[in-house]
Amino acid sequence: MKHFVTFEGIDGSGKSTVSNLVYEKMKKEGYKIILTYEPTDSWIGKIVQKCIKTKSDPFITAYTFIADRYEHCKQIKKWLDTGKIVLCDRYVESTYAYQAAQMQKSIDNPIKWLKELSKDRYVIPDRTFLFVIDPKKSLVRIQNRENLIPFEKIDFLDKVQKNYLNISKGARFKKIDATKKIHEIVDICYKDILK
Ligand code: TMP
Repeated sequence: MKHFVTFEGIDGSGKSTVSNLVYEKMKKEGYKIILTYEPTDSWIGKIVQKCIKTKSDPFITAYTFIADRYEHCKQIKKWLDTGKIVLCDRYVESTYAYQAAQMQKSIDNPIKWLKELSKDRYVIPDRTFLFVIDPKKSLVRIQNRENLIPFEKIDFLDKVQKNYLNISKGARFKKIDATKKIHEIVDICYKDILK
């Protein structure tokens, strides 16, 4: 059984829909379960939202995402300590994938820099699902959303996806073909969490 599970992937990959459905299913079955997300709704999370919308300096954006997570982790630890399963829609790999894509022209090896900044400042998940989809397809899925954000562009999401694939190696990660039917993906995630 996995207790702390994160969902990662580019915008429009379906991870929010799937994490919601897995949460509803497990809650109905009686599991003590929390669904949370980043950026959070805290005061720091609100600054993060502002950074995204106003296309702030990538360094400021990176620091605020990490600060938001640092605060979020205090709550995540409490939930885990009281025996709850915690599902989190976006987490540390979002920072590595997105902010590294933003910073790749400013510094050498931005992923390394971001990892060092985050080191020992977050709870390590038991499982991270990475939803993989061609950015062209993911953008078609979200093109009718009312508030498209500056990150939702093909070239940028291409870089983000490459970063995701590069960092998602090791036993913690499970890649999900995000073009599969939603109910199939929910089933894969659900069964994997219970293993
Ligand atoms: P959302 O669409 O999942 O609510 O996330 C908002 C955007 O924030 C999304 O485009 C991904 C981006 N993001 C980062 O750039 N870095 C991060 O660390 C996180 C958590 C999200």
